[in-house]
Amino acid sequence: MSTQWLKDAVFYEIYPQSYYDTNGDGIGDFNGIIEKLDYIKSLGCNALWINPCFDSPFKDAGYDVRDYKKVAPRYGNNNDLYRLFGEAHKRGIRVLLDLVPGHTSEEHEWFRQSQKAETNEYSNRYIWTDFCFQPAKGMGFIGGESERSATYALNFFKCQPALNYGFLKPEEPWQLATDHPDAIATREAMKDVMRFWLDHGCDGFRVDMAASLVKFDDEKKSGTSAIWRNVREMLDAEYPDAAMVAEWSDPPVALRAGYHMDFYLNHPGGGYASLMRDYQKGFSVNDGVDNSYFRKDAPDRDINRFLEQYEAWYKDTRDIGYISMLTCNHDTIRPRFNMEMDELKLAYAFIFTMPGVPFLYYGDEIGMRYLDLPTKEGGYYRTGARTPMQWDSSKNLGFSTGCADSLYLPVDPAADAPTVESQQDDPASLLNTVRALLKLRHEEADLQADGEYETVCAEKGKPFVYRRGSLLLAVNPSGEKLFADVDADDRQVLFVLGMADAHARRLAMGPQSFVVLK
Ligand code: GLC
Ligand code: CA
Repeated sequence: MSTQWLKDAVFYEIYPQSYYDTNGDGIGDFNGIIEKLDYIKSLGCNALWINPCFDSPFKDAGYDVRDYKKVAPRYGNNNDLYRLFGEAHKRGIRVLLDLVPGHTSEEHEWFRQSQKAETNEYSNRYIWTDFCFQPAKGMGFIGGESERSATYALNFFKCQPALNYGFLKPEEPWQLATDHPDAIATREAMKDVMRFWLDHGCDGFRVDMAASLVKFDDEKKSGTSAIWRNVREMLDAEYPDAAMVAEWSDPPVALRAGYHMDFYLNHPGGGYASLMRDYQKGFSVNDGVDNSYFRKDAPDRDINRFLEQYEAWYKDTRDIGYISMLTCNHDTIRPRFNMEMDELKLAYAFIFTMPGVPFLYYGDEIGMRYLDLPTKEGGYYRTGARTPMQWDSSKNLGFSTGCADSLYLPVDPAADAPTVESQQDDPASLLNTVRALLKLRHEEADLQADGEYETVCAEKGKPFVYRRGSLLLAVNPSGEKLFADVDADDRQVLFVLGMADAHARRLAMGPQSFVVLK
């Protein structure tokens, strides 16, 4: 089944703009990531996902690709990225790039060609109607911007025309079937992009809007899934070590479509959102009541809001691929927004001891804040989670030697802004808690991606107790001491936060505690 190295993989997501700037221009770069590889390794992360770092007008932070095979000059050149692959591999770190298959930038050469009145190789690379006043039914669309008398469909923002993989049930003459040679050409073009980077040493891809390829009526995703299965066949045959993780958040569908991993995202009302983000009413910041499971004062704490969705997915997919839990990503509000450091420790302890392949977003290991900032590069509310990494107490918190107003985004102005340096020597810091947790995960095969999972106690008012292989784990995020009737009397404590005690077939968990028992 899955690629072997994923069993013990722990990913670190890097937003390259904001990681480390080595030439003082205020923007992170590939050399900066290379310089910090030893730090990343010291966390216990052995894989990276780098957000799109390709040539782009940056109307959506690089998710509007202008040239799939050329990196954005602001990060360095292609050779710098190849060197990054090599330096990462020397340290046992794999690197996934971000593949954006659903759309390009409106400045991509394919789109320029496609806009021409005269039919050419790229005319059907995007979704066009037959006439300048004809709407692209069911999709956002743009007219009046090209020589060609037609409107084109959008996949996301206005700057992102939809690539054409065909329609599941074409109804209009301009809708191609998925087996039309031009629809297949789009898929093959994307495979060509993948081969290009894999041949240069990349280890796979995080795939943007993976569910978005085939247009209606692909509700069950059979059309889109068929394309990904075809891509997976190519990987298995030509790059058997390469891995793909989907931005899909529907593991039963995504993993059957050939993905090795699928993200469990923070969709409001979903199980994952109930853990740390139960204050959100939509995707934006909202100050509804915070009932997040890991909040000490959650008014109505219930792990079943998570388990209901998670367990069904887990049981359905455990033999075909992995569910990826994450601390946050570049599209979400940082967990420090609503959580204190002690709450974060418990939340991360849980995330890093669950099955599947976990992802840590840069800066979450030190509890970086979500900043209230105006939009940058199409970020909107997401901008506040994309600020520069905070390394130490020097200028710009060690991110850049440039002047403060040249920075991609400002650093946290607070006097107590968390930094790596300020947490480095404190064994109880969030940073060192992350390190200890990931060390334990690497030592205990039962805690890794394939180790079995079983719920032991999920009753309200009790600690949440779960089994991973032969290990027993428990967490109590509340401010009170709680008890569960489980026999753990002869077990050895492998890891503990706060107080935990197993005695007379009863497990006592102190306020805000977590334990791993062997
Ligand atoms: C994904 C990305 C997001 C981007 C969008 C369009 O959701 O994570 O950052 O804006 O796709 O590509
Ligand atoms: Ca730079």
